Amino acid sequence: MALRRAIADYLRLLRGLRCEADQVIIVSGTRQGMDIAARLLLDPGEAAWVENPGFPGLRGPLIAAGARLVPLAVDDEGLDLSRAARAPRPRLICVTPSHQFPLGMTMSIARRLALLERARAENAWIFEDDYDSEWRYRGRPLAALQGLDGDGRVIYAGSFSKVLFGSLRIGYLVVPPAVLEPFLRARATLDDQPSLVAQPALAAFLSEGHFAAYLRRQRRVYRARQERALAAARRHLAGLLDVPPDPGGLHLIGYLTPGLARRMDDREASRRAAALGIAVPPLSDYWIGRPRRQGLMLGYATLPEAAIDPAMERLARALQARAGPQA
Ligand SMILES: Cc1ncc(COP(=O)(O)O)c(C=O)c1O
Repeated sequence: MALRRAIADYLRLLRGLRCEADQVIIVSGTRQGMDIAARLLLDPGEAAWVENPGFPGLRGPLIAAGARLVPLAVDDEGLDLSRAARAPRPRLICVTPSHQFPLGMTMSIARRLALLERARAENAWIFEDDYDSEWRYRGRPLAALQGLDGDGRVIYAGSFSKVLFGSLRIGYLVVPPAVLEPFLRARATLDDQPSLVAQPALAAFLSEGHFAAYLRRQRRVYRARQERALAAARRHLAGLLDVPPDPGGLHLIGYLTPGLARRMDDREASRRAAALGIAVPPLSDYWIGRPRRQGLMLGYATLPEAAIDPAMERLARALQARAGPQA
């Protein structure tokens, strides 16, 4: 309960949620949260709308629950519902409004209101994966969609995986009161609590103010690393990858320039980088169907600043190299 209270306080204050501590359910991460939501809210064959591209880790539980996945395009303002006029009626709509995964845009207020309106009209649930909301370096972050929800249809999910570390295996759902009991029962059937050794420590870390201090300090560190990465990309990757800045997050996207795309696709580019010891997943891995854009995910957050320029230089070498023997 101490952890649920600390999370509720954090979410009300910093993410604009409307919630009480007893609506917070501790889970092992966003994926377990989606697993519970999909089992409870969907019958097999019902449609789940998902962003395309999107996080495969959240599609797995939907598929396992028998959902029919309906991929919807995103643009600069996030999920584009105007293209969903003839999409099958959704039971669940899954979004990353704070920082779209993997492309990084923030869903606009107009789109958020349209999404809530559409969900009301379709009598659908919304699964809000508030991924990366903590890592914002420029501009004011928008409050969570959940805070705008007047009729209890948003299941809000957060996780400490990206904000502290993934092996902690602690995340949380914030669930509308009307479905709280079934969610708590479903959680209890999956396994015992996530570690009761770690939970009290995390509760103290939050309630004693260390988490807020850590976020403030780490934001400066990651922001500086992103600036380094952007400068290094301008220096080494011109003509190979276009790397736009991002107001937040832990990675940048390097879009293949037309010149590079004539020579290879992003999977080949990723293989070549891996051969030189650089791990940059291809954007194609995140699409359902034909990838619309070719790019590489450039994670910079875990690299010390001094290591970023040499890594970009090595990536450029991998992409410049003439075609070698195929793996
Ligand atoms: C879009 C997105 N949501 C959520 C998560 C976190 O998932 P979990 O909490 O299950 O570790 C990730 C981790 O990579 C992610 O990329």
